[in-house]
Amino acid sequence: MKKVLSLILISVFFIGFLASCGGDSSSSDNSDKASSSYTPNLENGKAVYDRSCVACHMQGVAGAAAITDKARWEASAAKGLDTLHAHALHGFQGEHGVMLEKGSCADCSETDVYDAVAYILKEAGVEAK
Ligand code: HEC
Repeated sequence: MKKVLSLILISVFFIGFLASCGGDSSSSDNSDKASSSYTPNLENGKAVYDRSCVACHMQGVAGAAAITDKARWEASAAKGLDTLHAHALHGFQGEHGVMLEKGSCADCSETDVYDAVAYILKEAGVEAK
């Protein structure tokens, strides 16, 4: 019985530990975001997009989906927002071409990239879950 209790205690502690380190990515801006409670900053997203994504995603260069290409973004959005975040952050080889890590924006934070994804989806008129 004692053993069971300590097991419970250990798992409670462990879960608490996981929860406490899951969210914080200690990046530059002030939005608090455990990825589930992350709220995109579309203004920042536009700025990041204009700087780092526009070259490929404006017209659809090198296999990238143009920001106006709703059908392509719908197909992407169907993968789920987490997947899009991961692909934008770490890069992705798709059937159309290669998305580089952070669109090769070396000084973009994780949040910058997520905001840019949110901005693109909004402009494309698409929602990802
Ligand atoms: C050098 C060109 C280039 C730049 C710059 C670029 N991308 Fe991409 N991106 C691509 C290509 C090519 C694909 C399509 C890959 C495919 O579908 O085959 C893509 C796909 C994506 C996808 C969809 C991934 C998926 O799973 O469908 C997202 C989201 C994305 N880019 C976000 C961004 C963001 C955000 C930026 C700016 C920070 C950015 N991209 C900058 C080329 C680029």
